[in-house]
Amino acid sequence: MDTAGRTGLASARVASAGRGGGWLAAARRRIRQQLESVVRAHASPRRLGVAVAVGVLVGSSPFLGFQLLLALALAWLFGLNRLAVLLGVQVSAPPITPVLLFANLQVGALVLHGQFRSLSLERLRALPASEVVGALFLELLVGGLLVGGVLAAGLGWMTTRLVHRYRARQHVGAFLTPEQWEQLQARLDTLPRSWRSYARWKLRLDPVYALALAELPEDGELVDLGAGMGLLPLLLSLRSPSMRLRAVEWDTRKADVARQLLQGFPGTSVDVGDARRYELGSPLVVTLFDVLHYSPVEEQKAWLTRCAEALQPRGLLLVRELEPSMSRWPWTRLLEALAVRVGWNRGDGVQLYPPAEMAAALTALGFTVDLRRAGSGVFRANTLLVARKGAPSSIHGH
Ligand SMILES: C[S@@+](CC[C@H](N)C(=O)[O-])C[C@H]1O[C@@H](n2cnc3c(N)ncnc32)[C@H](O)[C@@H]1O
Repeated sequence: MDTAGRTGLASARVASAGRGGGWLAAARRRIRQQLESVVRAHASPRRLGVAVAVGVLVGSSPFLGFQLLLALALAWLFGLNRLAVLLGVQVSAPPITPVLLFANLQVGALVLHGQFRSLSLERLRALPASEVVGALFLELLVGGLLVGGVLAAGLGWMTTRLVHRYRARQHVGAFLTPEQWEQLQARLDTLPRSWRSYARWKLRLDPVYALALAELPEDGELVDLGAGMGLLPLLLSLRSPSMRLRAVEWDTRKADVARQLLQGFPGTSVDVGDARRYELGSPLVVTLFDVLHYSPVEEQKAWLTRCAEALQPRGLLLVRELEPSMSRWPWTRLLEALAVRVGWNRGDGVQLYPPAEMAAALTALGFTVDLRRAGSGVFRANTLLVARKGAPSSIHGH
């Protein structure tokens, strides 16, 4: 049976499962789907961090009673995850409300008048009511912006880090809807057994796909260099159907498998050839997972620079390689060398260009670079380099 046939079968199974159980079950499913779509919308770690920060800022403002409405309006206006924004607003939920108001008032008064606000009743009674309301509101507004700004930056940053960490431990299934997961399995089912088992094993055990999915945008063009059998493009075709995906692989056997897996997805292509000389155009994302080390280090450097230069402004470069300083034992390197020797991976041997050095080179080119652990056990030296073009330069460690 061809891919389309199996995918059709899988969707039919999902659809028929969707019909069972009566109206109550259907209503429950609808609610779950709605919730899922709210949870998954605009849910990259950065955007969730920004959403929480916006919520915290609104929660720190003096617009009591309108904060939820204001937060939802901002979420809609800027395309932010609604749940995360609402979570941020909870910064001023009882019993924290009076504490936050007090802090905002005092900071506001200090900035506006150079002294703290006295809350003694006699002082307040001495002022006309309209002045009290106006003065207090202004102090709360200014203080709220300052205190809220600091809280928003801290809590937003913490959210981004926590989501990153949580997702790094997650399975790729967490990024797909149940229907997309079924389609993934149906497509893998079309492969010969050895490829199928390898793909399932790889998707289950290798954290790099989940780490990448957490970073990758929902649309734009991505070029996957040394794509192997096309697992990353396959996951993306399912999760983000509006993305344009180009997979490049010089091993024709793997390229054929990738074509089979991606068959019927509009906007995807598989090109056979040497990815070092591939015409990149100007994509939004370039990915190089476990690919660079098959070339001499000098070539890796030139290749990486070419990719970095080709990327659009604000583009994203994801590279997974071994960081030799992370492991005393060279197991991963030995396994990779063995994979080349037996012909599973085509290349000139295994030559390491440490991600820490790549990070320095990319930072000099104006990228912001983050290095993440992307393996455990004997693969603990595997490191994912996440480099964004044109953002303020810095390197963050594991
Ligand atoms: C270890 S596999 C990784 C596959 C894929 N990136 C993934 O993570 O699922 C590395 C792949 O890169 C391919 N490769 C290495 N050097 C290449 C080059 N210069 N041009 C095209 N493909 C290359 C190999 O043939 C192999 O399929």
